Amino acid sequence: MSADFYGEFQGWLKEHDGEQYDLHDQHINASFVKMLRTIGFNKGYVRGQGSYLWDAQGNKYLDLLTGWGVFALGRNHPKIKAVLQQVLAQDMPNLVRMECSILSGLVAKKLTDHTSEGLSRVFFTNSGTETVEGALKFARAHTKRQKIVYCDHAFHGLTLGSLAVNGADFFREPFGEMMTGTVKVPFNDLAALEQALAGKDVAGFIVEPLQGKSCELVADGYLAEAQRLCRKYGTLLILDEVQCGLGRTGKWFCFQHFADVEPDILCVAKALSGGYVPVGAVVTRPAIMQSVFSSMEKCVVHSNTYGQNDMAMAAALASLHVIEDEKLVENAAAMGEYVMGRLKPLVGKNPFVSAVRGKGLMFAIDFARPESSFKLKMAWDMLHKINFGVFGQMIIIPLLQKHKILTQVAGYHTEVIKFLPPMVVTKEDLDWFVDALDSVLEETTHFPGTAWTTVLGLAKGAMRA
Ligand SMILES: Cc1ncc(COP(=O)(O)O)c(C=O)c1O
Repeated sequence: MSADFYGEFQGWLKEHDGEQYDLHDQHINASFVKMLRTIGFNKGYVRGQGSYLWDAQGNKYLDLLTGWGVFALGRNHPKIKAVLQQVLAQDMPNLVRMECSILSGLVAKKLTDHTSEGLSRVFFTNSGTETVEGALKFARAHTKRQKIVYCDHAFHGLTLGSLAVNGADFFREPFGEMMTGTVKVPFNDLAALEQALAGKDVAGFIVEPLQGKSCELVADGYLAEAQRLCRKYGTLLILDEVQCGLGRTGKWFCFQHFADVEPDILCVAKALSGGYVPVGAVVTRPAIMQSVFSSMEKCVVHSNTYGQNDMAMAAALASLHVIEDEKLVENAAAMGEYVMGRLKPLVGKNPFVSAVRGKGLMFAIDFARPESSFKLKMAWDMLHKINFGVFGQMIIIPLLQKHKILTQVAGYHTEVIKFLPPMVVTKEDLDWFVDALDSVLEETTHFPGTAWTTVLGLAKGAMRA
């Protein structure tokens, strides 16, 4: 007897246990399923709570991926869930559209309490990339210019506008012509930035204060000087804090680590959702908002159907309260310092670790060809002849299989592993992680050895595929 879909939904769902990979293979993304199966990441998780996931066998995993940052407050936070349940129970007058919702007003107020005085206006979106799209349009509308300057290695999302300011050709290559008028400059290079802005025809300069793909942080003084240059040449400074914002780096916003910085437009998303309902926000100055929504006729000239929906707004409001009440910004700062203190000695200890970098709870390990040991150089060269970018798999696979820690390589064709622990992470969790990493790294120094056999097999398999 099949469980009643409406009355016993969880029971009904349970009857489909184990079908997910075949369903995805047949209807969603077959290549993704193949990749998961190849590296053994098809774990069939059944529960998530706080910093952890569990599989059907009851194994507990430490989640250092946090759904690419949306579970910054931990999974299924009970206080956010309680607020959402109350909203659901209320039959609220959601998305009336020809009306102003109290919830979105309250989120806008609370969010802007944590930015800075000039940034008092908010446009709500449904994702990070939509936030960036909005920011680019707002910059064009305000300056009446077309061009956008962006940084090498930048990641701002994958819709066409955001893709046009992506710093890696890998993501663009299959999709043809991009939005025109974009100019790429090296990250942290003020001379190149000035050169790009000097023609006084650039609408906005968009930059992540802490780059998501590499965890490269802006240099001290860079943002303040970039802001001065932007003002000098009439360009708006757009800071993309979709990933590094809302406390993750140990301040409410990453730009607040640096003196005298106030962006013209700030992009927020991910953590704002509490991991429950997609939501993002373009935060900006009144004058910029006025340039876009310049009259009654133009009051919805930029808009979205789902923006400001009650569930997203309740999730955002509850998330902001939880970040404040549980002092998660302070925890991110303290835990970030702790983990960095434990990770830094790996440079020098392991011949492949070339750098450890990041800020707060957003950090990365960079791997490079070893300088000593002929044998290990040979192993590295052999692997890279077959497939560049697969070394990281030698780390993340045993981290999951042996040590029950979920991570992912940072990007394609890079030798970087990035970690995004939840802001509720504890010292014990971080010790679990660093001890595991230490042991996995130790295995990479044995060539030939099982770690190398596995990764060489994977690289050859990937080539064949
Ligand atoms: C800095 C940054 N901006 C924008 C985005 C795009 O966000 P979304 O995936 O929600 O569209 C991301 C996603 O990782 C990001 O890290």
